Amino acid sequence: MQPDVFTHRASGPHEPLRTFHPRRSPLGTDRADALTRLFPRWGFSVDDPRVPPPRTRDGWLDPLALYGRDAPLVMEIGSGMGDATAAMAAADPGRDWLAVEAHLPGVAALLLLVERLGLTNVRVAHGDALRLLRADVAPGSLDAVHAFFPDPWPKARHHKRRLVQPAHVALLRDRLRVGGTLHVATDWADYAEQMRDVLTADPDLVGGVVPRPAHRPVTRFEQRGLDLGHDVTDVVVRRVR
Ligand SMILES: C[S@@+](CC[C@H](N)C(=O)[O-])C[C@H]1O[C@@H](n2cnc3c(N)ncnc32)[C@H](O)[C@@H]1O
Repeated sequence: MQPDVFTHRASGPHEPLRTFHPRRSPLGTDRADALTRLFPRWGFSVDDPRVPPPRTRDGWLDPLALYGRDAPLVMEIGSGMGDATAAMAAADPGRDWLAVEAHLPGVAALLLLVERLGLTNVRVAHGDALRLLRADVAPGSLDAVHAFFPDPWPKARHHKRRLVQPAHVALLRDRLRVGGTLHVATDWADYAEQMRDVLTADPDLVGGVVPRPAHRPVTRFEQRGLDLGHDVTDVVVRRVR
């Protein structure tokens, strides 16, 4: 896999604002090697037509082809370095996990974990999860969506880039099956309020703030917040119609 496969399409004037910071971090030898060996097996690109996801005849993402079985599908948006994703997928082998991460070193780090732990139920998409959801994920096809510690965009003028906002939540809800869950968490107090308000305002989503469920490990980004004395808020809602 050549590195140019992973170059992002920049946001053009007609594209929605991105929810992530564009970063170009060096990969290092192990991660570059992981991409070469493992991305073709367990990864696909949101943007690059040379490494597309498998699709059904209708053009939607095809989980059966991706995982080789028909199991409930969990999407994690912004899996970071992948520790939490790998731990949750290892503990829940009856479901399949699609981690979507815009940051290439994170994609590589998770691929290495998948290999090390021998996980068969994890695939990793490189790129913008919102773009993938809009273009490729069939309505009603996800059992759960997780977004743990999405970029907080603390400055008021950047709040429009936050992942949890009404238009994005409408998209996520549409891609969940009825009965499926959306689980978000943050260590930013005003984002926690925004998450609670936006998610509970949607009449088709029911739920609210919960203590951290035991199945969600403390994530890397969360630990940084905890070390700074931040409180952490989890919000879990279920699609009811
Ligand atoms: C603050 S980090 C948290 C990472 C991890 N969940 C954790 O808790 O340690 C947020 C991550 O989400 C990714 N991200 C943000 N918006 C995204 C999007 N639309 N699609 C894919 N990844 C996204 C960023 O690249 C970043 O790695």
